[in-house]
Amino acid sequence: MSERTFLTVPEHVAIIMDGNGRWAKQRGLPRTMGHRKGVDAVRETVRAAGDAGIKYLTLFAFSSENWRRPETEVSDLLGLLKAFIRRDLAELHRQNVRVKVIGDRLSLKSDILDLLVDAEERTKSNTALTLVIAFNYGSRDEIARAMTSLARDVEAGRLRAQDISPALINARLDTAGIPDPDLIIRTSGEERLSNFLLWQAAYSEFIFVPEYWPDFSREIFHSALETFASRDRRFGGLVAQTAAAVGT
Ligand code: IPE
Ligand code: IPE
Ligand code: MG
Repeated sequence: MSERTFLTVPEHVAIIMDGNGRWAKQRGLPRTMGHRKGVDAVRETVRAAGDAGIKYLTLFAFSSENWRRPETEVSDLLGLLKAFIRRDLAELHRQNVRVKVIGDRLSLKSDILDLLVDAEERTKSNTALTLVIAFNYGSRDEIARAMTSLARDVEAGRLRAQDISPALINARLDTAGIPDPDLIIRTSGEERLSNFLLWQAAYSEFIFVPEYWPDFSREIFHSALETFASRDRRFGGLVAQTAAAVGT
């Protein structure tokens, strides 16, 4: 297939992959089948993002609030993540993809934590796409952990409270070193952030698509990229700018 080129390619696209359960329900299937099919959409999207020249793709895989779901569903979701890493890491590595995980690691069991850390370690020198997996991620939790870390420095006399700046806060977030998302896509027709990248989304463009995540495709992705390219981003100024030009 010939690859499409876009006028303005976002450097960082973040996706709230929503609607697996409804996709399954629509077909009279158990919710877990929707999650399974969702993994295929992840594979296709990672490839499409790399092909389009996107540098960072963040996927919201499991939120810090998703533990509220029935135990069987939680364990299915954790199992799918483990299976994905085990099965797909070699292929991701071959595609020169660097894996990075954001979210609270401390409360994760060691089997899953070891897999995630190993995936990061093995792919850390790759230079094509960075795939950021948001797992056990919640933005408020991330911000609270960053604040604790800054407060410890103030307490120990390593930092003056008045020196705390947006840049210092940025550097303590799980996303330190990753540019803010230029574009946030949410599938399934829901139009909310659900505690995803609240700080980082300050100037993101939002695109909400009606399709459920298992139906997300290269075509839907391309159409979102086209919409993104047609938007004027002003960052508070009066003329259209790029994120790089204003240094966000
Ligand atoms: C997204 O699909 C997957 C996760 C949140 C882990 P959902 O499971 O939220 O599907 P719906 O929203 O109930 O349809
Ligand atoms: C957001 O979807 C979390 C992920 C996609 C992992 P949810 O389905 O959990 O969000 P709410 O509960 O509808 O807001
Ligand atoms: Mg949902």
